[in-house]
Amino acid sequence: MSNSQAPSGILGMIAGLQDLQTYREQNWEGSFPDYLELVRTRPSITRNAYQRLYDLILSFGTEQYTEYKKSIIRYKFFDDPMDNGKDAVFGIDVHLMKLLNTLKSAALGLGPEKRVILLHGPVGSAKSSIVRLFKKGVEWYSRQPEGALYTFSWVLPSGEVVPSPLHEEPLRLIPLEMRKVVLEELNKTARTTAGASRYRIDIEGDLDPVSRFMFREQMKDCGGDWLQMIQRIRVRRLLLSEKDRVGIGTFQPKDEKNQDSTELTGDINYRRIAELGSDSDPRAFNFDGEFCVANRGIIEFVEMLKLDVAFLYDLLGASQEHVIKPKKFAQTVIDEVIIGHTNEPEYKRLQSNEFMEALRDRTIKVDVPYITKWSDEAKIYRRDFNKQRLSAGQRTIAPHTLEMAAMWAVLTRLEDPKKANLSILQKLKLYDGRTLPGYTEDNVKELRKTAVREALDGISPRYVQDKISNALVRDTGAPSINAFMVLNELEGGLKNHSLINDEDRKKRYRELIGVVKKEYEDIVKNEVQKAIASDENAIMRLCGNYIDNVKAFTQKERVKNAFTGGYDEPDERLMRSIEEKIDIPVSRKEDFRRELMNYIGALAIDGKQFNFRMNERLYHALELKLFEDQKDSIKLSSLVSQVVDPETQAKIDVVKQRLIDQYGYDDYSATDVLHYVASIFARGDAKE
Ligand SMILES: Nc1ncnc2c1ncn2[C@@H]1O[C@H](COP(=O)(O)OP(=O)(O)O)[C@@H](O)[C@H]1O
Ligand SMILES: [Mg+2]
Repeated sequence: MSNSQAPSGILGMIAGLQDLQTYREQNWEGSFPDYLELVRTRPSITRNAYQRLYDLILSFGTEQYTEYKKSIIRYKFFDDPMDNGKDAVFGIDVHLMKLLNTLKSAALGLGPEKRVILLHGPVGSAKSSIVRLFKKGVEWYSRQPEGALYTFSWVLPSGEVVPSPLHEEPLRLIPLEMRKVVLEELNKTARTTAGASRYRIDIEGDLDPVSRFMFREQMKDCGGDWLQMIQRIRVRRLLLSEKDRVGIGTFQPKDEKNQDSTELTGDINYRRIAELGSDSDPRAFNFDGEFCVANRGIIEFVEMLKLDVAFLYDLLGASQEHVIKPKKFAQTVIDEVIIGHTNEPEYKRLQSNEFMEALRDRTIKVDVPYITKWSDEAKIYRRDFNKQRLSAGQRTIAPHTLEMAAMWAVLTRLEDPKKANLSILQKLKLYDGRTLPGYTEDNVKELRKTAVREALDGISPRYVQDKISNALVRDTGAPSINAFMVLNELEGGLKNHSLINDEDRKKRYRELIGVVKKEYEDIVKNEVQKAIASDENAIMRLCGNYIDNVKAFTQKERVKNAFTGGYDEPDERLMRSIEEKIDIPVSRKEDFRRELMNYIGALAIDGKQFNFRMNERLYHALELKLFEDQKDSIKLSSLVSQVVDPETQAKIDVVKQRLIDQYGYDDYSATDVLHYVASIFARGDAKE
């Protein structure tokens, strides 16, 4: 950080000190006894890779909510707080809970740590995103004080420095035969310190081949005195980093010829052999295989089942035994989270294979399905295409555009409801938490249960992301894109969709585009209606007028005419024109009016005055009535003809401004949507 920009005064001093503190902590170096002291005060620094990952996730806290009467835990870690939500995973909490349970029992050493965790699901279901979050998290955690971990180097009297190639835990330098006693002692004090960890301190396995070799040589040199030998050890803080290839590895299947176990374990370095004069010197081995790189952290197997079967056996063996076997060397114990992922088609391909037995035995499969909750799916696209991400000068996105794309994506994943009177759109809304008369939570749960392939088939978010991008860059001259443009893009892309070659399915997806367009039409129509009718004063006047008439009607009186000063019969036509808007039949009108008056009367006793917001139904009826009255005066339909007189234009501008202020439109998209709704009404008028 440059000094010239640092704040001055005490604040500046504190800022400077803080950075220095972090820097010092992250670059901590000390002797082996110093390290033992660290372990005494903060036993958690000795946690293994699974314990670290699990604690990292827990460290961000949880939220609890109920869905279908089941209590669900949301781990806030999956909101990606480390990186402003960039890789957040939404919506699949039930499955993430299962994943977390697996990690928990791995952290407790109950078995899963000896398996490969295999994320399984359709393409684009967030498998890679989950692993990316883990890798990012593990890297981040190693930089925090509470996530610190350590490793060591040999510093020889000659000045030569030989780091542990697998950046192992320094406690492994304690000879196997002494460990039991030492661990007992360490654990005794560990319990009583403030930094107590929820795990016992444990040291698993022998040193890596290089360190074992060095250990032997240096012991010889020190005449067998471990205390003297250990002075040649320099312990240091270990910062994991994917870029630096420390503690985070990725293995990706290439072509089959390339699948050589050295890619995982490392290879002989022939030049070093020449220098050292022996091929059995472990220092002549490059421990740069992916398993070595990832030690202490996490290794990801991308599209794991695309790997050659023979090769997979090696990998599964490695995870089961926790050891790798570098060429010509003894087995080496590793400490890393092993996680792979596979698409459903790959998994199915192997289903008939006898290899599947072995695979099932050695992996823990965690399903990662698509999102089926509309509002969660919309979060993906809002994150990807939010205002901050769209650069200045780029086209804007009209309200509902991303939501409609999300609606279609979710619809393609739902199975048709078996109940005849339930539409697929209604089912989507039920899943989204809306209520429908006649449907209880239990019914919805039942709906979910009876659908077999739901959330495993359908459109992937990646397809939708690509099509939204296309719509954004397509040069149409419009400064803003709307739902129709995106829906058309989504529909058009189906022709060449590489993963859907089933014509029936394409047809169904196209029909669903139609369902979404219809829904969109309803939404914007409603919004424009509300914008036109959202003249508070006008509604208030209409409401007052209605109530005066209702009062006169129920009390069999007349209404004072403000204009003539005389008294008139209650205006039945006015009252009915409002009541009809909310489907109150003539036979029910008296009850409705009487209930309303009773309510107003009760309010008056409490000294309160009625206002139209207190009765949702009446409010809606008033809005619709007002819209009907104003529609003609605004001459919405004249918008379509492009010739608008100034007076009408002024009225339209007011409505447009309401769309901008209340519904999030910008100038262009508001005009756009007004034109569209006008055209709907024009069609409607023509029909009449
Ligand atoms: N549940 C989800 N939450 C957030 N984003 C998701 C979710 N499912 C898919 N995505 C998004 O879809 C895209 C594809 O996800 P990815 O993790 O690469 O899928 P996979 O590895 O399963 O094929 C990514 O941009 C990802 O952010
Ligand atoms: Mg992937």
